[in-house]
Amino acid sequence: MKKVFVTHQLPGEKIHLLGQACELNVWMGPGLLPPATLREELAAAQGLVCMLTDRIDADLLAALPQLEFVSSMSVGVDHIDVAALTARGIPLGHTPGVLVETTADLAFSLMLAAARRIHEADRFMRDGHWGANNAWSPDFFTGKDVYGATLGIIGMGEIGQAMARRAQGFGMEVLGWNRSPRDVPGIASVSFEELLLRSDFVSVHVALTDETRGLLDAEAIALMKPGSVLVNTARGGIVDEQALARALSSGDLYAAGMDVFDTEPVPADNPLLQLPNVVVAPHIGSATQMTRARMADMAALNALAAARGEAMPQCANPEVYG
Ligand code: GLV
Repeated sequence: MKKVFVTHQLPGEKIHLLGQACELNVWMGPGLLPPATLREELAAAQGLVCMLTDRIDADLLAALPQLEFVSSMSVGVDHIDVAALTARGIPLGHTPGVLVETTADLAFSLMLAAARRIHEADRFMRDGHWGANNAWSPDFFTGKDVYGATLGIIGMGEIGQAMARRAQGFGMEVLGWNRSPRDVPGIASVSFEELLLRSDFVSVHVALTDETRGLLDAEAIALMKPGSVLVNTARGGIVDEQALARALSSGDLYAAGMDVFDTEPVPADNPLLQLPNVVVAPHIGSATQMTRARMADMAALNALAAARGEAMPQCANPEVYG
């Protein structure tokens, strides 16, 4: 039986199938798996089922000559050195598709919350500020209209398209930009610059790669329409957080909704956390019980296929199969 290290207890129904076919060693926590423990536990394993919080880099892989397959319970694989795996012919499983609508729900929620200042209003009430001297007035907690506004979608993949469908229900004009141009019904394809110049709301839906790292840098943020809102549910490294914080505190941008950050968990001194016009979430785009169970099942089935010597159903580096 192949030995498989699983870096977290998994929800879903399929992990028991992997347990019948392989010898599982499951990290029981609590908290994040320390990298030293990952290295130690993996030394004896042919297979790995990991999370997006586990860093699988070339250095670690070099210490694991026996490793045969990796399955990540995530759609993004930027925490893994994919090239190093591919060079060794090691298949990498991931979980596309199942988290599309759930992640788009969160992106849309952050957009609404940022526009209508829901997080500020919530804190205001809980902190006991709502009183006779601080109450309803014509400009009390006024925000920005979402209905009928223009939404720019950076990355017209499945999640970007799901975001666009929601926007259509809100009467929004939807612009889209994709690194390799594509035609999507209901989304007007424009240049990156035009999207930034024209959009009242910009939502990021590209994967983090060498090409997209820093895509929204200071220069791109400076092109954004004055008073617009940025939403990021993709990956932290795509947006320059310092430049974003500057644009938000100067009032060039109206607000931001951020689910992902350069460093996660986010250090307390991240400037975005100090700004009232930023609504934040701790990387919970796919966090519904149903979706997490589906992702866990997909991760388990990818690992099971590899353990049986079959092709993974959802492989991020299919070129390993020739
Ligand atoms: C979530 O961010 C994922 O990549 O699954």
